[in-house]
Amino acid sequence: MALYDAIAEIYDAWSVSVVEDIAFYVGEAKRCDGPVVELAVGSGRIAVPIAQAGRKVIGIDLSTSMLARARALAEERGVGALVDLRVGDLCDPPVTEHVHLVICPFRSLLHLPDEAEKLRALRAAHDLLEPGGRLVFDVFAPSPEDIVETNGLWLEREAGIFERADWDESRRSLLLSVRSGESTAAMELHWLSAIEWRRLIDEAGFDVADLYGWFDRRPYRGHDDMIWTCCRRD
Ligand SMILES: C[S@@+](CC[C@H](N)C(=O)[O-])C[C@H]1O[C@@H](n2cnc3c(N)ncnc32)[C@H](O)[C@@H]1O
Repeated sequence: MALYDAIAEIYDAWSVSVVEDIAFYVGEAKRCDGPVVELAVGSGRIAVPIAQAGRKVIGIDLSTSMLARARALAEERGVGALVDLRVGDLCDPPVTEHVHLVICPFRSLLHLPDEAEKLRALRAAHDLLEPGGRLVFDVFAPSPEDIVETNGLWLEREAGIFERADWDESRRSLLLSVRSGESTAAMELHWLSAIEWRRLIDEAGFDVADLYGWFDRRPYRGHDDMIWTCCRRD
């Protein structure tokens, strides 16, 4: 059973307030020709709006329960034919097509435990792209204030949905627990600094086109959030 299978039922309600990234990724998709690959597509929160904008999406995820939700959302919104969902690992995606855009929204790369796995994922994204194609993803690195404010506290993030962050600064990992009624899950996220991401992106064969601090495209100035747009170099 994949990690997100345990919370697939509550994922959409849990992430309902996260909307600021949707127009950003739809905009990125509209700039490119042809299909988009979304790594860690989840419940289709981003993929389905991209399909509604007329682009085909190939979505990869480890969780069959999340993919079932994505399938249902795509059908409900009338874009089932544009959404091609595949079970698989984003480090070794089951995709033979080459595309102009690969995206990995909502911090999904932070599920990978270490630099080696993150580099593997970036290289896999590189190999899916046509020369000059783009990889766009977002991640975060918490501020000290964020850690102090939230560490170890159960907070009601949405009505009836509680979230707790246990930060380990020495390991740079976050144990995120979520509960709602009978559903509970805990997942680890592992962050890196902007300098470390830049090095991995370069090692994977990309040039950084832009690094934003938020989805309104403000430049990154040490914010918690990092939105990377990268061009396949070779
Ligand atoms: C935070 S959700 C993001 C889902 C979606 N991209 C969104 O923006 O709502 C993270 C997703 O990553 C998936 N995931 C985690 N590790 C993965 C891996 N190694 N390969 C593929 N999917 C993975 C989970 O199953 C989950 O659906």
